[in-house]
Amino acid sequence: MSHFAGKRIVLGITGGIAAYKAAELTRLLVKAGAAVDVVMTEAATHFVSAVTFQALAGRNVWTSLWDADQRGMAHIDLTRGADAVLVAPATADFLARLTHGMANDLLTTLCQARDCPLLVAPAMNRQMWEQPATQRNVAQLTADGIAILGPAAGEQACGEVGEGRMLEAQELVDALAAFLQPKPLAGKKVLLTAGPTFEALDPVRGLTNTSSGKMGFALARACAEAGAEVTLVAGSVSESQSRWYAGSYAKRIDVISALEMRDAVMAALPGQDVFIAVAAVADYRPAVATEHKIKKGAQTLSIELVANPDILAEVAARPDAPFCVGFAAESRNLAEYAEGKRKAKKLPLVVGNLVQDGLGGDTNRVTLFDDAGAHPLPAGDKLGIARGIVSHIARLMKCIG
Ligand code: C5P
Repeated sequence: MSHFAGKRIVLGITGGIAAYKAAELTRLLVKAGAAVDVVMTEAATHFVSAVTFQALAGRNVWTSLWDADQRGMAHIDLTRGADAVLVAPATADFLARLTHGMANDLLTTLCQARDCPLLVAPAMNRQMWEQPATQRNVAQLTADGIAILGPAAGEQACGEVGEGRMLEAQELVDALAAFLQPKPLAGKKVLLTAGPTFEALDPVRGLTNTSSGKMGFALARACAEAGAEVTLVAGSVSESQSRWYAGSYAKRIDVISALEMRDAVMAALPGQDVFIAVAAVADYRPAVATEHKIKKGAQTLSIELVANPDILAEVAARPDAPFCVGFAAESRNLAEYAEGKRKAKKLPLVVGNLVQDGLGGDTNRVTLFDDAGAHPLPAGDKLGIARGIVSHIARLMKCIG
């Protein structure tokens, strides 16, 4: 995943035990394609060595205002052309100095002199975090337009338990990636369905399909990154899928059957600007779900199925319909079937993919079908594809030029 290709990040590291996590953070950012300029405070070098970051980032590591560069202007030059400064971990002392505009080391000086966004990931003992002084500083930094990432709650290095743990490296990478995304859907409300439905036959059995929900969850995240307020109606996705989702991008409503999904969508629909139906909704459900387990014995067993409501078609047919996007997962004749669905359900946009390319996996290959024709997106991981779909939606909705 090269989500940071062409990006340059200044990573500030201050003196807390969470500094060891900054090594993994550097590795993940470099792996995702970023150029990482590491700046350490003097205290940080007591926890981790500059050599570690030199090796991981493959670039010079800056530790002092007096580090020799060509012009003696590292505090200015480092942020010129950078996409963001991320300080992780950010200690209580660093936050205090930043709040008050102090410039008494290289990191605070370059933060004052920066011309790019600044994000900080606090990390400290829970008592330090709860101190009125720290809370005042964090409120002031937020008011000054500085993004605060975390902290999380949990076990701390000192043995105490509470709020103040730095977010994990992957969480910080995800938060930074989200922060850097364009925001064409700011002020918009987006409703999505995701995952399979489960149609009960008896108390333990049912009809379902192999949809993992990953594409829908990735789209929910991409919509949130683009600035939208997101509601996600999720079918019966697995526990691991729920963990992948991390839970923080959207208001999430869990449902099991198609009928429940329909009810949840209709209840959440008023005021939505966009509806994206990603769920693999079962077309049919058993006419009756028996109260008790069906016993074996008979040589043949017939199950009567009745059609489920088509949620997307119902939403798209409403006079106050939001901008509706459908998915067409086909095993062949993609263009023909996807266009057919688009016309039949009167949708401005259908995202088509071949099931062999996407269902259940982490990657996908999709083609977008709209009034202007077919637009293939580059194959890739589902989050990258979701971002491509979101920018296409924003263009069709004239949110971006
Ligand atoms: O007609 P088909 O089921 O192939 O259309 C797929 C699209 O319609 C997907 O966007 C899917 O989420 C949506 N759909 C729905 N309710 C159904 C069946 C499909 O919203 N009962």
